[in-house]
Amino acid sequence: MQLKLIPYLQQGVLDNIPTERYMTALRSDLLEKVARGEAVPLDLLAALAGFCHASEYVMWEAPDDTARLEKLDPARSETERLMTGCFRPVAPERLPRDEIEPLRPLSDETSKAVGAQYEENPYPRWRFLPPTTPRDDAIDILVAGAGTGQEPILVAKEYPKARVTALDLSRTSLAYGLMRAREHDAGNIRFLQGDILDVAMIGQKFDSIRSSGVLHHMKEPLQGLLALKGVLKHSGTIRLFLYSAAARWGTLAAQEMRKARGIPATPDAIRAFRQEILALPDDHPAKTVSQGRDFFSISGVRDLLFHVQEHNYTIPMIADLVAASGLRLLEFANTAKARKRFEDMGFKEPNDLASWEKVEALHPGTFSGMYKFTLGF
Ligand SMILES: C[S@@+](CC[C@H](N)C(=O)[O-])C[C@H]1O[C@@H](n2cnc3c(N)ncnc32)[C@H](O)[C@@H]1O
Repeated sequence: MQLKLIPYLQQGVLDNIPTERYMTALRSDLLEKVARGEAVPLDLLAALAGFCHASEYVMWEAPDDTARLEKLDPARSETERLMTGCFRPVAPERLPRDEIEPLRPLSDETSKAVGAQYEENPYPRWRFLPPTTPRDDAIDILVAGAGTGQEPILVAKEYPKARVTALDLSRTSLAYGLMRAREHDAGNIRFLQGDILDVAMIGQKFDSIRSSGVLHHMKEPLQGLLALKGVLKHSGTIRLFLYSAAARWGTLAAQEMRKARGIPATPDAIRAFRQEILALPDDHPAKTVSQGRDFFSISGVRDLLFHVQEHNYTIPMIADLVAASGLRLLEFANTAKARKRFEDMGFKEPNDLASWEKVEALHPGTFSGMYKFTLGF
């Protein structure tokens, strides 16, 4: 068992409740043994510590665990250091924050509040990159709202000759991205801290602009889109991902619970709130959030349930946004699942938003991975 468990802990990511229950119990058992002075395998402890760190210690710490942990001293032995590291960080994370170039100090109040959230909880914390096939195009790419670098690094690996600009409000998120870019040998990325509203100050135009899960966190997403349009080359494209209100009905129910109870966005409160959600009856709408990836890290839950600013869209709202931008819709919903539903309902015109509205009315979860669409001149 252990032979398989260690590679899983080293390569996997916490993303489901049965695994969480198993790992929580395993961690408590190991702690009990360590507290009794029994030997435990150091390679297992090291792998479990890495796994728990990757989820930002989102798993529940029982009072017995806390009492035992208080008696450990990370400086006393490797066992105690690794055991403690399964529950909390044992060393501060050193990120190259000073190496991030500033574009311009933030002035928009919403951008400041959103930036502050991601300074505290850079999102997403990611462990691995999917494989990519390199392409030859030497293009200019902007990742607007680059977060912790996963998307710009993926794009930089896919287009090794491209010049990639990774723009975000959060210096800490970008510093995490820069650290990871170095690990992945992705040198063609410029990390820039600033607001999409100020993107013209970069003084450059782009062939491809990508903004995944970002504009819905601006006070006025249309202003963000118009700013991006202003730095788009005439032949270029903007690919956007935006929240669907219909797909997020369970998330919105969980957010209502959180607001009604006045739960603060601290790691301890987030851990406790997760337990409350898990204790809900299975048919409670808010319980659906426990099936999504974001439920399994502190920054994920913060992003999902504690955001300081978000808009949730309907398809008519997307149509209005596109019309107001003066751009053309080049492609909508390019996922296989969505396309199949569309065709099964007999629709033919792939970018007809009125048809997509009917698909979503019948299958509200179609855009659980957000509305994904591409715009151009
Ligand atoms: C939900 S995260 C998504 C990160 C990344 N796009 C991804 O998919 O992994 C949203 C990111 O957008 C950034 N963001 C929000 N509003 C922004 C703005 N006005 N200008 C630049 N970045 C912004 C936040 O700082 C945050 O890192």
